[in-house]
Amino acid sequence: MELCSLRFAFVLALLLYPCFAAARGGDRRPISLLGQMDDEGWMLSRHLLEDQPLITDEMVSGYMSNSELEMAIKEFGRRCSNISRVYSIGKSVNSVPLWVMEISDKPGKDEAAPSFKFIGNVHGDEPVGRELLIRLANWLCDNYMKDSLAMMIVKHVHLHILPTMNPDGFALRRRGNANNVDLNRDFPDQFYPLNDRLESRQPETRAIMNWVKERRFTASASLHGGALVANYPWDGSQDTRKEYVACPDDKTFRYMANVYSHSHYNMSLSKEFEGGITNGAFWYPIYGGMQDWNYIHGGCFELTLEISDVKWPKSIELPILWEYNRLSMLNLVASLLKAGIHGRILSSQGGHPLPAAVKVEGIDYTVFATRTLGDYHRLLAPRESYEVVASMPGFQSKRTRVVVEDEVTSLDFILIPEGEDSVKQDEILNNYICSCGGKDKLELVEFLRGTHFEIYLFIFIVVVFLFYLLKRKKMF
Ligand SMILES: *[C@@H]1O[C@H](CO)[C@@H](O)[C@H](O)[C@H]1NC(C)=O
Ligand SMILES: *[C@@H]1O[C@H](CO)[C@@H](O)[C@H](O)[C@H]1NC(C)=O
Ligand SMILES: [Zn+2]
Repeated sequence: MELCSLRFAFVLALLLYPCFAAARGGDRRPISLLGQMDDEGWMLSRHLLEDQPLITDEMVSGYMSNSELEMAIKEFGRRCSNISRVYSIGKSVNSVPLWVMEISDKPGKDEAAPSFKFIGNVHGDEPVGRELLIRLANWLCDNYMKDSLAMMIVKHVHLHILPTMNPDGFALRRRGNANNVDLNRDFPDQFYPLNDRLESRQPETRAIMNWVKERRFTASASLHGGALVANYPWDGSQDTRKEYVACPDDKTFRYMANVYSHSHYNMSLSKEFEGGITNGAFWYPIYGGMQDWNYIHGGCFELTLEISDVKWPKSIELPILWEYNRLSMLNLVASLLKAGIHGRILSSQGGHPLPAAVKVEGIDYTVFATRTLGDYHRLLAPRESYEVVASMPGFQSKRTRVVVEDEVTSLDFILIPEGEDSVKQDEILNNYICSCGGKDKLELVEFLRGTHFEIYLFIFIVVVFLFYLLKRKKMF
């Protein structure tokens, strides 16, 4: 009886939640539901309590309108055509295209490289992100030949930039979209099954969901305003309480959030948030947010970045905000090349790519290799040792221990089909992989991947042929 009424209260609380909670990046907490809200809580959220007050024409001046932003994106695409591609992932409620700029030396090509995405202007009245993202794209275009960080990103990452997810909200100068829905409350939620009505999802949300499912992003960040902090999962708590709720990759997320806050002009000096970072639910729980959905359903490690205390600052401050955030943005993208393990997973028979699962002992999370190239990208906090397992139905799993330093570690797996008498082959490979240091491991990778691959394949065919002859002889 008591349990039943408790459950009822919880469901009721969730139902009422959207009425009270406005957003990550500018919100109101469900104060009446959170009995433990204290003075300190009020202090911490002071910038987030209100929607941006009346936005005057004067405040809007100096910001790009939606059509100016579209022109700027297309102009970027023309000017930087050899390292970029412009495409749309859908339309807003009012039919404004959601333009994305992809930056890479091979834009639009399928490569064994990690992808990162930036999303700005999730909330219509938080426009700093959209301005900084177009600056980021242009800066990369201007500097990829001379700046080593820019060069590294263009060469080794596919960076996708969506300056505005909510152009209608921007035009209306308010937080929600044209239907006045808070897009950072519109995603399916792990604790909030009431949010699972697919058909009622907003077009902007659906566009993001399809985009994430179709393209494998290794990590991402969305940009908000109203505070100065790097926020990481989980955003929600089971019981709507304000408490630290660690996700399986807590350590890695804290590493990423620290990369951002410590590369920032003064985010890490925050008096409100230790080190300028926070666990979402510890700050204030939200449900239906984009961040947790990305990690759970997209295999994508997403941060929610609050990049200015004032949601809609005067446009004259934009160049300074860009300077404060530039290195943070670049370093966060480059962290894909500095933390964790990556490689390819191939079948021992013919060397074809396998969409295998990669798990790390002690972390309840799976990263999958791609179907097309068999590449996987697994972010991990550096300076630790990890036990990594690659598995695939029909193949023998393979397990390796690696020490991840301040450089992404290359780790390829050659999986052997189950039920084959492959002990000998296994032995050879294991000797190669285990008895020697990382360098030799890489040589094996190069051997299998590089020009010797044909030789490897040739030997394999010869062996199969001999086997066939032997069998034939036996038959007669
Ligand atoms: C892009 O074009 C410039 C000159 O127009 C050239 O120097 C550069 O190598 C090109 N970059 C790529 C990645 O092809
Ligand atoms: C960071 O610098 C800005 C601009 O100087 C200032 O307004 C803000 O209070 C500073 N924040 C912190 C946490 O030091
Ligand atoms: Zn926001």
